[in-house]
Amino acid sequence: MSLASQVRAARPTPDDASALRGGLRDAGATLDVVDHATCLTVPARVDAALVRGPARGPRGCGDLRRRGISGRMKLVILGASGGCGRHLVEQAVGRRHEVTAVARASSSLDAPTGARTLRGDLTSVAFLRDAVRGQDAVLSALGLRLPGIAPWQRPVDPDFLDRSTAALLEAMGAEGIRRLVAISAGGVGDSHDAVPAAFRAFIAVSALRSVYPALDRMERALLASALDVCICRPTGLTDEPATGRAVVARAIVGRGAIPRADVAAWMLDEVARPAFAAKTPMITVTGAAGAPPRR
Ligand SMILES: NC(=O)c1ccc[n+]([C@@H]2O[C@H](COP(=O)([O-])OP(=O)(O)OC[C@H]3O[C@@H](n4cnc5c(N)ncnc54)[C@H](OP(=O)(O)O)[C@@H]3O)[C@@H](O)[C@H]2O)c1
Repeated sequence: MSLASQVRAARPTPDDASALRGGLRDAGATLDVVDHATCLTVPARVDAALVRGPARGPRGCGDLRRRGISGRMKLVILGASGGCGRHLVEQAVGRRHEVTAVARASSSLDAPTGARTLRGDLTSVAFLRDAVRGQDAVLSALGLRLPGIAPWQRPVDPDFLDRSTAALLEAMGAEGIRRLVAISAGGVGDSHDAVPAAFRAFIAVSALRSVYPALDRMERALLASALDVCICRPTGLTDEPATGRAVVARAIVGRGAIPRADVAAWMLDEVARPAFAAKTPMITVTGAAGAPPRR
């Protein structure tokens, strides 16, 4: 659907039209004419990337703008040194967002040119307030580091997610930042029965048995907050190149896997165009059963 058709479908009020014009201007585009009754005459040179996919339902343009369609965003990426975090930083810079890559002091982190890096204690409210201040949204790729997957292995810092989640919620609340997209895992919470029995058994007998309850607590704390949260639950992560074929799956059959690069792309799409607010979509490239259509 063309931008003009989307704008028309949104039936904007005069305020909406003015907000849309502002959003396009921020993104370096212009509207030649916006008549709020017809809301037409959008120049062809408006970047198609500003609007990915159709606006759903009769929304105002103000709503489109709130949903991130204004283009460039200020994004904070927590856990920027991790597998998914590195992809998030690289892709966010590639999409021309203004990026702050955050990791603890001891992390190895080479953020690409164009990203600001910030190091500190990710369980400190004061540090996180500094990190999120003035930003549009937070992406979290934080997780628990495991020394190994054997049953006797335990996370290096078992309550890190509890402490960092509590601190992040306090920091975002205090700074008035509302939008967060975070990573959990397929099989956590109410997706437990949606993954294959063999994988459930693996969770139960491997070191994951101490990670999954921590992810579950993180999810509950985030979802109970007043924030605008989406927590994706990827299946098995790989370092394969991005496929662009990530889907939201109701259940997994066989081997569920998804490249970290696809997880990052999915999260960046979601932060720009929220479709799963207050939800915990399971995302995968392989093994999807009953997948709803792609976003
Ligand atoms: N592995 C899988 O197949 C799989 C499948 C589904 C979901 N997941 C989930 O997806 C998440 C992201 O995966 P990934 O491969 O990107 O994870 P990862 O490479 O282990 O990255 C975890 C991030 O969390 C940070 N972190 C961990 N403990 C910390 C602490 N005490 N203080 C500060 N930062 C800390 C790490 O920082 P440092 O670099 O400094 O350690 C790193 O940036 C995982 O954590 C897991 O919960 C994993």
